[in-house]
Amino acid sequence: TKGLITLDSGYKNTGSCKSAITFLDGEKGILRYRGYSIEELAEKADFLEVAYLLIFGDLPNQEQLDKFHADIKKHSVVDDDVKKILDAFPKSAHPMGVLSSLTSALTAFNPESVNVDSEEDMYNAIVRLIGKLPILVSWTMRKKMGLPLYYGDSSLGYVENLLKMMFKQPNEEVYTQNPILIDALDKLLILHADHEQNCSTSTVRITGSSHAGLFVSIAAGISALWGPLHGGANQAVLEMLEAIKADGGDTKKYMAKAKDKSDPFRLMGFGHRVYKNFDPRARIIKKAADEVLGDLGVEDPILDIAKGLEKEALEDQYFVDRKLYPNVDFYSGIIYRAMGIPVEMFTVMFALGRLPGWIAQWREMRLNKEPIGRPRQLYVGETERAFKSIDKR
Ligand code: SDX
Repeated sequence: TKGLITLDSGYKNTGSCKSAITFLDGEKGILRYRGYSIEELAEKADFLEVAYLLIFGDLPNQEQLDKFHADIKKHSVVDDDVKKILDAFPKSAHPMGVLSSLTSALTAFNPESVNVDSEEDMYNAIVRLIGKLPILVSWTMRKKMGLPLYYGDSSLGYVENLLKMMFKQPNEEVYTQNPILIDALDKLLILHADHEQNCSTSTVRITGSSHAGLFVSIAAGISALWGPLHGGANQAVLEMLEAIKADGGDTKKYMAKAKDKSDPFRLMGFGHRVYKNFDPRARIIKKAADEVLGDLGVEDPILDIAKGLEKEALEDQYFVDRKLYPNVDFYSGIIYRAMGIPVEMFTVMFALGRLPGWIAQWREMRLNKEPIGRPRQLYVGETERAFKSIDKR
């Protein structure tokens, strides 16, 4: 059955919307993309199939998928002048700020992506962005690491090529030829692909509703995702686990801090605005983390600390009463870290995963010809009052 909800007539300007893309039930821990369960998609589909499903409404047949791949490959290049913008950033720049800036800058090199009223124009802007973002992701990481930039190898699959561009170095085969790592990253990208009207997706929809171009609407979403309460949580989780490890692995001390109202510390990777049950994505990612670390032969004490923390939190009355469970960000960083991805790049990986969802939501909003977003407010300020000259203030 569809997850139909009733909306009052005022929905047009309250910031909420009707959408047919993703259904989630926070109480039951259910997540479906266009009616397909996340569990099945993570197991049986690949990232570009899921991207097609989210954006166009159904799983592609072979001909549709082949055309989608070919159109994306055609645009898997970025104007060399974009490198000059990248060069202007200090190495200390956070990759999310770099990625948002470069994504916005793409508009200048792809002006046809701005005024897109026909489905065909939208499609062309969409495949351009899906083709170019992995290049920007790899360039952002390599800039951070002081490594030369590459364009990759378009004969490879989408995820393999991303890994090749990110890790092009003597032992890159460790990544591009390892099916476990490729499968784990593909799964991670699928699990992050959409999540109905979260903070960054709402940002994309409201930015796009002014008919600003697709690229700048996505750049706005990247900026919103950066925050540690949202996508930035995966970086914050690893920094928290590192701090606990450096502090002798004393998880009880950090559980106490998380419950101490006078302490601003929160257990990063726990809790959710909608899920008041286990985040179904966290279950799948936790299993993938075990597989990747096992395959790479990595004994990561951070994973043991994470599992210890999760066990304590699930048995802690404060957390149980507030329905605080591990969310999508709790285990993802452990996989990225095992793959050698720098911690400041974790949220960039989230942004790449969320790209198809942001695009799907933007396209739905445009095809529905929704009015410009204009949430209203409850005014709680001063009633009318007369002006006071400065000598009377
Ligand atoms: C994502 O919206 C989405 O769909 C987002 C996302 C997506 O796919 O787009 O799922 C991705 O953003 C996941 C969330 C990642 N963020 C974190 O892991 C940061 C840590 N989590 C918290 O900051 C918090 O749980 C939020 C922001 C995620 C949700 O906040 P809520 O629902 O507004 O919860 P709240 O602030 O109202 O807290 C309710 C109670 C409070 O205690 P009381 O005042 O009732 O006594 O729970 C407590 C909070 O203090 N609480 C926590 C906590 N989260 C909530 N206490 C300790 N640690 C935490 N993590």
